[in-house]
Amino acid sequence: MGVCRICDGNLESFLDFGRMPIANGFLSAEQFDHEYFFSLSVGFCCTCCMVQLVETVEPQLLFHDQYPFFSSTSTRMKEHFHRFAVDVQRNVLQDSDPFVVELGSNDGILLRNFAERNIRHLGIEPSNNVADVARSSGVNTLSRFFNPAVADEVVQEYGQADAVLAANVVCHIPDLRELVEAIATLLKPRGLFIFEDPYLGNILAKTAYDQIYDEHVYYFSLAAISNLLEAHRLEVVDVIPQAVHGGSMRYVVGHQGQHKVAESVGKLRAMEVADGFTQAETFHRFRRAVEQSRNELLAVLSDLKKQGKRVVGYAATSKSTTVTNYCGITSELVEFISDTTPDKQGKYSPGTHIPVRPYSAFTENYPDVALLFAWNHLHEIMEKEANYHKANGKWLVFVPKVQLFDANDPAIHRPNA
Ligand code: TYD
Ligand code: ZN
Repeated sequence: MGVCRICDGNLESFLDFGRMPIANGFLSAEQFDHEYFFSLSVGFCCTCCMVQLVETVEPQLLFHDQYPFFSSTSTRMKEHFHRFAVDVQRNVLQDSDPFVVELGSNDGILLRNFAERNIRHLGIEPSNNVADVARSSGVNTLSRFFNPAVADEVVQEYGQADAVLAANVVCHIPDLRELVEAIATLLKPRGLFIFEDPYLGNILAKTAYDQIYDEHVYYFSLAAISNLLEAHRLEVVDVIPQAVHGGSMRYVVGHQGQHKVAESVGKLRAMEVADGFTQAETFHRFRRAVEQSRNELLAVLSDLKKQGKRVVGYAATSKSTTVTNYCGITSELVEFISDTTPDKQGKYSPGTHIPVRPYSAFTENYPDVALLFAWNHLHEIMEKEANYHKANGKWLVFVPKVQLFDANDPAIHRPNA
């Protein structure tokens, strides 16, 4: 039993993965002996409903100057962030000379859209290597972890913000009480804090247990977010589902009483209660589904091995670290993982030490089966891999269920965001 980081209530652990390495900790062979492991388990707070890791890793160990995740590797994500920016500009930035802040702005994939329109903006990004990429494309970036002191400094230098944005960032921040305090300081009285993260409802519905890793400290529901915001008199005024990262939710947050609350908020709240997001038993059911998913995936992989088929991993995602380590998938079952990120190539996957090779290693010698670790980019990848399909290449996915399919299968056309 742990303690809830939000309300100090009792945290009931419902899924224990055991010892895990850092999800984005791709490493060289010389580093194997010093690899860092921690205990990964997830709990549900019976008081405020927040689903969260029981033990966290120091953020400085995760987000540093060799952080290998660059947001701009996916064209679909670039389009998504372009639409996000246009939406904010049209609907939120009503004042003259508005100011936009983004938390965890990575390589500037979102803020670039504001920079190009000469809108005052500031990215706050702790990993210097990705921040440098942002700066080189004209995105004003501060290399810091965001907290109340930084919020004060930003307000002094630039004034309060019309919009504070964050995509796949808030669920990474261990001290959310401090974050909410900082947001309350940074936002203008009618300003909006708009953030999106993988949604608990999609994780449960798709048994997407691979979303659970060190960087994702929290798995948000509207119920838990609403409880969190209360302390600093903030409230959710709209919720908009997003078809990215396997199904995310965008929460629009304002100071209490400043905005009309959209109908979608009440509807989602009722749906979460009906679906049991406020009850511990729901999460125990999830654990049983995760165990079954692991057994099915291992059964398919050992069968393929028996048949002498070549299996290669497609995309060395952070999510894949949970899957390979939890299921015990090593290079015995998966020859290598192909990935387009230069920083990962030539290294090995965390914990299981499967070689990570460039994308060309996949295209130059197609395997019989590609284990799709980036299932959230299914459509983009299917469009890209017509030649693999012509060569009779098959896909193995494990979300929303374990399934082996080829180009003729309707699963290829089914949305899986
Ligand atoms: P993503 O699902 O965003 O990863 P994460 O689980 O880390 O959040 O996928 C990004 C990774 O996938 C990145 O290492 C690049 C790789 N990738 C490919 O190799 N090929 C592709 O076609 C795509 C879309 C991603
Ligand atoms: Zn709590």
